[in-house]
Amino acid sequence: MSIFEKFLYGSYETLLVKEIKDHPVPSHVAIIMDGNRRFAEKHGLMRYYGHVKGADTTENVLDWSFDLGIKQLTVYAFSTENFERTDDEKKKLFDLIGFKFDKICSDERTHSRRMRVRVLGQINLLPPDLKAAAKRAEETTKNYNGVYLNVALAYGGRQELVDATRKMAAKIRNAKLSLKDINEDVISRNLYPSSGSLPYVDLIVRTGGDERISNFLPWQTNGNECAAYFCAPFWPEFRRIDFLRAIRTYQTREHERQKNTVLRVVKLLSYYGKVEVEDVISMSREYLDVPKGEVVKIINELARHNVVMHSMIKW
Ligand code: IPE
Ligand code: IPE
Ligand code: MG
Repeated sequence: MSIFEKFLYGSYETLLVKEIKDHPVPSHVAIIMDGNRRFAEKHGLMRYYGHVKGADTTENVLDWSFDLGIKQLTVYAFSTENFERTDDEKKKLFDLIGFKFDKICSDERTHSRRMRVRVLGQINLLPPDLKAAAKRAEETTKNYNGVYLNVALAYGGRQELVDATRKMAAKIRNAKLSLKDINEDVISRNLYPSSGSLPYVDLIVRTGGDERISNFLPWQTNGNECAAYFCAPFWPEFRRIDFLRAIRTYQTREHERQKNTVLRVVKLLSYYGKVEVEDVISMSREYLDVPKGEVVKIINELARHNVVMHSMIKW
């Protein structure tokens, strides 16, 4: 990078951070880290080197996320489909992931952030060494609740639903759960990880150019209508500005959602005559979780650009 490019990158990054700081950040971000092998190929390197560089990016993303105030980060490290890769690639990948789990245990950032590590997936399919390393990371951090790092390992979204169904069926058989009590919350609590349910996802990010979800967190992303950000860089080349852009996409989406909500409330209330601003605020807040400051901003914005809307509201 030339000095000029570095200067531009730095200014752009500062600008993005400034924009982002003005709005709420997503509380749960999930990432499909894709493109390690293509990165290696592009640079004429061994595949394994792509995975090593990719793991470095993951470490950086932890810093970027938790510094911004994101509470939960879920990363897709190895899917059930990835078991079809060669034994050599799998062995190297598993060793690398195990090494990273041990590094997490000794890294002072884990403790200063009070970061809890949770693993989700069919852990029993993993080789013993990796299973043990994953357990060590979970055990070491089990009392932390500052931020959460969830690692999807031997993970498949449909399999997660199959496993949850089995768990619930077993509870019904043992009279620990009754059929009529099954609801969305109960299903969420029976998904991975066994140590507590994962909250719904607010933003899903995929690198490497493919725009698909690859069986990742179907339950936690779909019902929540989470924002999605697909980008071209391979995982090892994913930069902080790419991450900040993803956050901005979430914030823009969230603003649109809030705007539509307020608009719907105004229309609904208008059936009963002039719309009181206070009613719009309390209804949007109470039922749809839009903060008061945002509602006021949105009402002003809507009224400024729309004469009909302006005349509907009692100021
Ligand atoms: C993502 O990169 C990492 C894992 C799936 C483990 P890939 O290994 O899928 O790399 P590409 O997508 O083939 O380049
Ligand atoms: C997605 O990458 C899964 C992980 C990042 C672990 P893949 O490279 O395995 O995905 P597909 O099969 O190309 O969708
Ligand atoms: Mg891939």
